[in-house]
Amino acid sequence: MREFWWHRLPAAAGFGLIFLIFLTSRGLVVALSVTLLVLMAYLLRHLWQLAQLDAWLAHPDRQVPRGVGEWGDVFYRLGKMWRLRQDGQDVAMASLEQMLQATRSLPDGVVILDQRDRIAWLNDAAERYLGLSRTRDLGQFVYYLLRNASFVEWLTLDDLSQSLRMRAPAKPEITLNLQMVRVSRDQRMLLAHDITELERVDAIRRDFVANVSHELRTPVTVIAGFLETFDEMEMPDFEGVRKHVHLMREQSDRIRHLLDDLLALARLDGEQDMKNESVDVPGLVESLAGEARSLSQGRHEIEVRIDSQARLIGRSQDLHSAFGNLVSNAVRYTPAGGRITLRWALTEGNGAEFSVRDTGEGIEPEHIPRLTERFYRVDRGRSRATGGTGLGLAIVKHVLQRHQGKLKVESTVGKGSTFTALLPADRVIPETAPDAPSMPESAAA
Ligand SMILES: Nc1ncnc2c1ncn2[C@@H]1O[C@H](COP(=O)(O)OP(=O)(O)O)[C@@H](O)[C@H]1O
Ligand SMILES: [Mg+2]
Repeated sequence: MREFWWHRLPAAAGFGLIFLIFLTSRGLVVALSVTLLVLMAYLLRHLWQLAQLDAWLAHPDRQVPRGVGEWGDVFYRLGKMWRLRQDGQDVAMASLEQMLQATRSLPDGVVILDQRDRIAWLNDAAERYLGLSRTRDLGQFVYYLLRNASFVEWLTLDDLSQSLRMRAPAKPEITLNLQMVRVSRDQRMLLAHDITELERVDAIRRDFVANVSHELRTPVTVIAGFLETFDEMEMPDFEGVRKHVHLMREQSDRIRHLLDDLLALARLDGEQDMKNESVDVPGLVESLAGEARSLSQGRHEIEVRIDSQARLIGRSQDLHSAFGNLVSNAVRYTPAGGRITLRWALTEGNGAEFSVRDTGEGIEPEHIPRLTERFYRVDRGRSRATGGTGLGLAIVKHVLQRHQGKLKVESTVGKGSTFTALLPADRVIPETAPDAPSMPESAAA
């Protein structure tokens, strides 16, 4: 605390003087003039300190002015506040600089976009991979700089859960996985991760499976052919040869199915672009019902409900194999006397669904999330006995993914299951005749 009394000394002396002048009764005029002079001196001192304060506020980084009296306190407190604030700011700036430095040298590309997708900031890896520049491109619309069609489409999707694979625009030998993260209400962060090595290993794995399957397929087909001939040949049944040949034939068929499924999966995994066609789903469902009847051989009641004549944009062969897998599963996992319903219908939001409902054994809830894993079966013995490969639902999942669709599984143990393939609106070609009657058709096998 500063001394408080000494600056009041001139004022006290001034008033003392006035008092003395009164005492000597030299006249009111003199007293008033002196009072005025003292007051003006007071006022001038405050004005001068105010001007000093004003000058300091304009440049607070300069030395705090010296104040007299109350002003000394005021300046002392202001100076202290300013230093504290300055220290806090320095610390914040230092950690911000550290953060920026770390983000700048991250191995992943980082681009911060504003609400209109203009570039607010980017790091070194983003410059390297995406060919952007921190000095040149800030404030530019990102889709003017990265003109890749699938990138632009992905950007407008606004679905943060979807990532995008693409070649690095500035380094085509690198494959990037792009992700979008929301930073704040009006900022998004684009992350670009180099997955070249991952892709390479994945391609090796895929090619290996495809090659092995392909190499095995020919000899297995030859063996199966001979066994088939033996099986059908009239020959004396010495020591049960016929029975063994029949078993061998069954096993070679199993291997052939396995190889076919592995090859199908390798193809679905590997193919980048899919050839789209307009698929007549109602016709497909009818023909699947025929296949189901021949597989069931009269053991089940098979019902078809075609509630829409809508077609799908997709790959006919793949949809046939996916939907066919759901149908054959229903037949194979439903005891004789059960009912199987195939249904094609539109859904809310103009999507469509193909569902297969059965009154079979049902599936315990803990298995459901794992059914689409390769070789996952609830009951391995039962799957084998009915000729399953354990790859069917994995194929279904892949095919649906390639059509931006999803598989939904509902099941109650002892009551039955419903497997539904959900397809998005942009793949559905609505019925040409808007008043086309729905054609529920029921047929007992
Ligand atoms: N409709 C169904 N009812 C009961 N279980 C089913 C049904 N469909 C599939 N499953 C179970 O899911 C497993 C995986 O199916 P899938 O991938 O098609 O292989 P699989 O070749 O064994 O049929 C099956 O082994 C079976 O346990
Ligand atoms: Mg199957």
